[in-house]
Amino acid sequence: MTDSSEESVELEARLEEQGSFDPPESFVEQANVADPGIYEEFEENWPECWEGAADLLSWDREYETVLEDDDAPFYKWFTGGELNASANCLDRHVENGAKNRAAIKWEGELGETRTYTYGDLLNEVEAFAAALRDLGVGEDDVVTLYLPMIPELPVAMLACARIGAPHSVVFAGFSADALATRMNAADSEYLVTCDGYYRRGDALNHKEKADKGVRGVDHDVTSVVVDRLGDELKHFLGDSAHDYGELVEQHEGASVDPVSRDAEDMLFLMYTSGTTGQPKGVKHTTGGYLAYAAWTSHAVLDVKPEDTYWCAADIGWITGHSYIVYGPLALGTTTMMYEGTPDYPDRDRLWELVEKNDVDIFYTAPTAIRAFMKWGSQYPEKHDLSSLRLLGTVGEPINPRAWKWYYTHIGGDECPIVDTWWQTETGGMMITTLPGIGTMKPGSAGPPLPGIDARIVDAAGENVEAGDAGYLTVQKPWPGMLRTLYQNDERFLSEYWQEYSDEETDEWVYFPEDGAKIDDDGYITILGRVDDVINVSGHRLGTMEIESAIVGTEGVAEAAVVGGDHDLKGEAVYAYVILEDGQDPTDAMSDRIVEEVEDAIGPIARPEEVIFTPELPKTRSGKIMRRLLEDIASGNELGNTSTLRNPEVVDEIAAQVESD
Ligand code: WTA
Repeated sequence: MTDSSEESVELEARLEEQGSFDPPESFVEQANVADPGIYEEFEENWPECWEGAADLLSWDREYETVLEDDDAPFYKWFTGGELNASANCLDRHVENGAKNRAAIKWEGELGETRTYTYGDLLNEVEAFAAALRDLGVGEDDVVTLYLPMIPELPVAMLACARIGAPHSVVFAGFSADALATRMNAADSEYLVTCDGYYRRGDALNHKEKADKGVRGVDHDVTSVVVDRLGDELKHFLGDSAHDYGELVEQHEGASVDPVSRDAEDMLFLMYTSGTTGQPKGVKHTTGGYLAYAAWTSHAVLDVKPEDTYWCAADIGWITGHSYIVYGPLALGTTTMMYEGTPDYPDRDRLWELVEKNDVDIFYTAPTAIRAFMKWGSQYPEKHDLSSLRLLGTVGEPINPRAWKWYYTHIGGDECPIVDTWWQTETGGMMITTLPGIGTMKPGSAGPPLPGIDARIVDAAGENVEAGDAGYLTVQKPWPGMLRTLYQNDERFLSEYWQEYSDEETDEWVYFPEDGAKIDDDGYITILGRVDDVINVSGHRLGTMEIESAIVGTEGVAEAAVVGGDHDLKGEAVYAYVILEDGQDPTDAMSDRIVEEVEDAIGPIARPEEVIFTPELPKTRSGKIMRRLLEDIASGNELGNTSTLRNPEVVDEIAAQVESD
């Protein structure tokens, strides 16, 4: 006890004094990338520098051009090239002698385990690919995957990739309505789902939600259902549903040649939240995305084939796509998957799994680290975590205190931490230190990766001074970038390229809608979203989506949703609600509103608080003052409210929040 508190005092002092840490020599010696010259090299040799990323893949046909920018910002990468993502993640490793290496090590919540070698995984992917074809899935048909963290999810992704059918994974925690919206938006006629899964020991019925979702789809749907729960939960297949296990058995031993896809052909769609109520279908391609996921896994996560690597995210989000499935498998490593929650059966579950599997690299979100910190260091202390070599975080800013806790209690003061900034749209990491090179500054993600031109600008698009807050922009394209929003080029242009680009001079600047600042060393600290998106536990939620669910509740007249500070979640959802005349602000009404949000989106969007108010603070032009509502939710000092049409309402709302 004395030791660790002494250590922590010492660490605190170091943090204050220097505010930075250098990677240990032992790490640098073995790092995939350790030459600081890489930054200059990429800058001088841009965009050809990205050939190195493409070289991590096997191509059926060599590409002719690295970057085609004739039709910017509709950039094209590695044009003329052809490849298949599943062949890159499976066949080539099997052919190169890694047939018996574990590809996926899966840990079920109740303690079952499953290991798929590269050989096993290839077999099951081929069988399921053959089955999908039999069901009628053709090249370019979008297949929706609504599955929890079970191995059949990556199998289905790779099976789709094998036959050139883009997948659209819908997070299993999303509601039936959210599933239907996404299937309709993607014109997706195929669904792979399951009967249920375990959460904190309970069997959850997932099929009920999937069935309800399918009823909301405006075209016919063919489904495949994975039997995850067996006798625990009986389910019935309707006419248009097939059993996954039976299909795979019927097609066992099938050989399905990977379809050569053009580098620019769509690999997958991923829906994410934006400013308007309608989720955005982010389109990623086969060549650029896969090359970028592989390159960043190699350079930033330092993945080596002999590693056991664990990204404790859900594949339902982009982090799981790039850094549980595509990046690690492209590099031929062993990737772990865990079905359940970190505190079941006890709060040391993740550390138990790290110890048991000799995990080398561990990647998670700050929200999880804050929870571990709150639970206390006695949980990681029960386990031998010395197999760890590198730690990472993603999804939201990490405060220096949580960073330090992670560094000491999980990394034993010996593992570099990469704080990686990126987005669904960027496909892979963009801003972070390279662990074998860069000094780490807790709280700051670090410099942009080599070849990434990220700058912080003011409202006029001019670079801000070091230390000043501004808007994050990316001023050159990169291979992993989204190519468009599915069937909506116009929204792609207006969401990301309008703000800072100059069409006249053909200068295109990508705007990720984050605020940030930069220091004298070029290190970037992300300050958070500047649009109406809230980041709850590292998950992006659109306030408009939540608002439209709330106003769908009978008796509700108007609603404004904002993010307020939250110790564990980073941000939480606060809903300010005006009821129709004659409606009472009862607990029952509040429950109905919460339920409506869960039905429309899912439990992650559940409001932390529903605050009934007779009016919302509005500007004289009638715009809801969201900043003010955010300040009230976060308990911040309120600024000048004199520009409001109805300043008196502010005190009323603040009093209401305090009394709740
Ligand atoms: C935020 C997740 C600070 C940011 C991969 C971004 C971060 C949004 C970081 C994207 C980080 C992600 N530090 N903020 N290291 N990483 N963010 O699309 O606001 O789910 O715009 O992608 O998360 O969320 P998304």
